[in-house]
Amino acid sequence: MLRLLDHNDKFYEAAYENQVRFLPKSERWWRTWPLWLINSGYPWTVRHNIPAGAIVVELGCAGGVRYFGQRYRMVGCDLSLSSLKKIEMYEQRIQADAAACIPLADNTVDAVVSSYFWEHIPPEVKPAILAECHRVLRPSGKIIFLYDVETENHLIRRYKQQDPLAYKRLFIEGDGHLGYESPAENLCVFEKAGFQVLKQSGMEKTWLQSPSVFKKLAEFKGMAQKLFEWARYLGQQPWFYLYTALLRLVDTVVCPWLPAKMARIEMVVLEKDAR
Ligand SMILES: C[S@@+](CC[C@H](N)C(=O)[O-])C[C@H]1O[C@@H](n2cnc3c(N)ncnc32)[C@H](O)[C@@H]1O
Repeated sequence: MLRLLDHNDKFYEAAYENQVRFLPKSERWWRTWPLWLINSGYPWTVRHNIPAGAIVVELGCAGGVRYFGQRYRMVGCDLSLSSLKKIEMYEQRIQADAAACIPLADNTVDAVVSSYFWEHIPPEVKPAILAECHRVLRPSGKIIFLYDVETENHLIRRYKQQDPLAYKRLFIEGDGHLGYESPAENLCVFEKAGFQVLKQSGMEKTWLQSPSVFKKLAEFKGMAQKLFEWARYLGQQPWFYLYTALLRLVDTVVCPWLPAKMARIEMVVLEKDAR
């Protein structure tokens, strides 16, 4: 493991140690389809866009995605040492602040990917990270990011307006989400940094939200509190898989028809400009 930090980050150390453990037994579709369900389809999208054997950097990787370790030559980068120690099957693990540097040579990487990392980066720091991605990526290299956005979703907006302080505490500060920006603002940042947007998928545009959102909404006062407390149990067994499948279906079939600004999360596929 390469350590570029001489101290551990107080906020992130040991905060996120989650790992995606699922490993399909083969690359046949009937073995790999669960990747479509996991983490809003993040591993599925990465698999679809990046061929096996590629050199892939995962930013803010926490405990990593075991499937990526099996399919790619993976480099995991995170601030947290304890999270990096949990990773299995990645070739390299680097404890570094991606805003300061991605310690790899120019034009050597096929893709840079991340899930729920981008919203942790303050807007003024995002260009520095994208400049590093641009530097390490080969020509036509890809970025795939999944992240929370500043949303106009009716459900979230209602509670944000009702109690802005509770919203700030629960949705922003509690999770270290310093980088919420609207889908349009994010696209602007990507294009300015020299990336072409190949695909932008907004998800969770309706009242059907991840159980983690219902957990936060249950802390707001109001008549719906009991309903949200109940809804957060959808994230637990035996309902978890059924609810996740329903959420993914709505994300795939209904959400593309709704305005981009209603999305609570989005996934983008970008390509390094030829210029
Ligand atoms: C919400 S977690 C996401 C973890 C994992 N990717 C997932 O989807 O569950 C955000 C991760 O980004 C890491 N992180 C935050 N800022 C970072 C930075 N500037 N450089 C590298 N990693 C960072 C944190 O340590 C944390 O592990």
